[in-house]
Amino acid sequence: MSNGPTLPARLTSGEPGWTTEADVVVVGSGIAGLTAALRLRHQVEKVLVVTKDVLSSGSTQWAQGGIAAALGPGDTPEQHERDTLVAGAGACDAEAVRILVTEGPDAVRELIATGANFDHSPEGVLSLTREGGHHRDRIAHAGGDATGAEIQRALVAAIDAAPDIEVIEHALAVDLLLAEDGGVAGITLHVMGEGQRDGVGAVRCRAVVLASGGLGQVFSQTTNPAVSSGDGMALALRAGAVLRDLEFVQFHPTVMYLGPDSMGQQPLISEAVRGEGAFLVDFEGNRFMQGQHELADLAPRDVVAKAITRRMHETGHAHMWLDARQLGLEFWEKRFPTILVTCRAHGVDPVTELIPVAPACHYASGGVATDLWGRSGVPGLYATGEVACSGVHGANRLASNSLLEGLVFSRRIAQVLPTELRAYAEPAPDDRETGVVAAEVRPDLQAVMTEQAGVLRSADGLTTALHELSALAEKGGEIGTASWEATNLLTISTALAEAARLREETRGSHWREDFPDRDDAHWAGHVDSRLTATGLEQDFRRAPATDGPTAGGAA
Ligand code: SIN
Repeated sequence: MSNGPTLPARLTSGEPGWTTEADVVVVGSGIAGLTAALRLRHQVEKVLVVTKDVLSSGSTQWAQGGIAAALGPGDTPEQHERDTLVAGAGACDAEAVRILVTEGPDAVRELIATGANFDHSPEGVLSLTREGGHHRDRIAHAGGDATGAEIQRALVAAIDAAPDIEVIEHALAVDLLLAEDGGVAGITLHVMGEGQRDGVGAVRCRAVVLASGGLGQVFSQTTNPAVSSGDGMALALRAGAVLRDLEFVQFHPTVMYLGPDSMGQQPLISEAVRGEGAFLVDFEGNRFMQGQHELADLAPRDVVAKAITRRMHETGHAHMWLDARQLGLEFWEKRFPTILVTCRAHGVDPVTELIPVAPACHYASGGVATDLWGRSGVPGLYATGEVACSGVHGANRLASNSLLEGLVFSRRIAQVLPTELRAYAEPAPDDRETGVVAAEVRPDLQAVMTEQAGVLRSADGLTTALHELSALAEKGGEIGTASWEATNLLTISTALAEAARLREETRGSHWREDFPDRDDAHWAGHVDSRLTATGLEQDFRRAPATDGPTAGGAA
């Protein structure tokens, strides 16, 4: 029985004050959204990109490590596939992974052709590095540790050179408008600030591509920017789409620890720093990753995050340390210039000092359930990138597979969407219950989720979280962006906590202290969440474990 809040089926908002039309609306402006827009523009008459901040904001911009693809000598898609499946701890969709790794190399070459400048050796060979869970050097990077910023720059430049793509910035996607058949008829937006289009408006359209990123703001500390408040997932859930495997939230092991009161986006210390030789130590200087996994400090992310958390609990410390002094000043300046500046800005010189690190929320491996072409179950609604659950990440995303997923699956959406474009449809009368919670619940919600549904979970803690979320849901709010974001966070937190309570096992990034083992006999498969007329419903759908003979290696 759910102890969670009753979730609104629609956000309370004013009547649209303006209307426009586009064949396809792309929501989000990271690698997934801009790739979809650039590929669709020659195939449909009008593409509109909407983004909550400016075009260059969002998670892609912050990606450090890089983009994984089998591009190096001796590497093959099959090896990349194996590492992805092992990291995913049996919960990947094997076909989706095969597509990712086989289409990945061409997709990256095309990104380079679009203008993204990746790092090369003096001889002109693409530089590749290694991160957790990879058995080969296969991470292409740019500007040392500024890969996302360079990709974003190149894609925004391509959009700027495409005047036929309309862009609306500072626009929160509120809800889908649904036709009589339950498919897409349009989308409502709230445009913030003065401008040609101000306030709530409606875009009548034939398809929506959600590429709105993740849900990091559900937790008090995250590597995600402030815009990552689960809006796309919540909107899709309200429109009738299935959210899959929300319990699989990845905590990045090495996020710079800034003290107990530091909230919101925290500085990431890329796994690539460990890929280049840095290692973790406790307060006594012990290298505690040794002996925990064959890859030691470069074990898959869930293994390292759990080992750090365990050592923090055992020793009563709020963080552990990353020792990267041996890289030396010259290497730091060339290879990790952004991280070097960030550490120094926070008073730590990583060339001579240890960096305090602790796990923080980094990536949602679950999301809007899609097929191999990015289709959700709602006709005309597609999803790509972090907002989607295409099946490639399973219970724990392999490092640097996220940019690749956005690239590969946006290309696939652009292949099928024009061939199956719906006719413009009238929005059906909509009498679904509306609601909005107070913006002020946000920090309390984040504290509850961090405490009870974060790295380490239990049935008691998750039940407490759901009770507390119910109490927060009672605090009704004024309509406006902050309240809509808070309502989306509450919706996603509820579905996440319910899914985490249902899955009574430990697998990948889902760690239950009351069910400490992976349990394929009962829990190989997926947790699907949907919002029906009677409220939030969850079912477990069995599927064979996909990590084959190496099962358990990453758990
Ligand atoms: C990192 O650089 O450690 C993050 C890369 C990723 O999340 O894939």
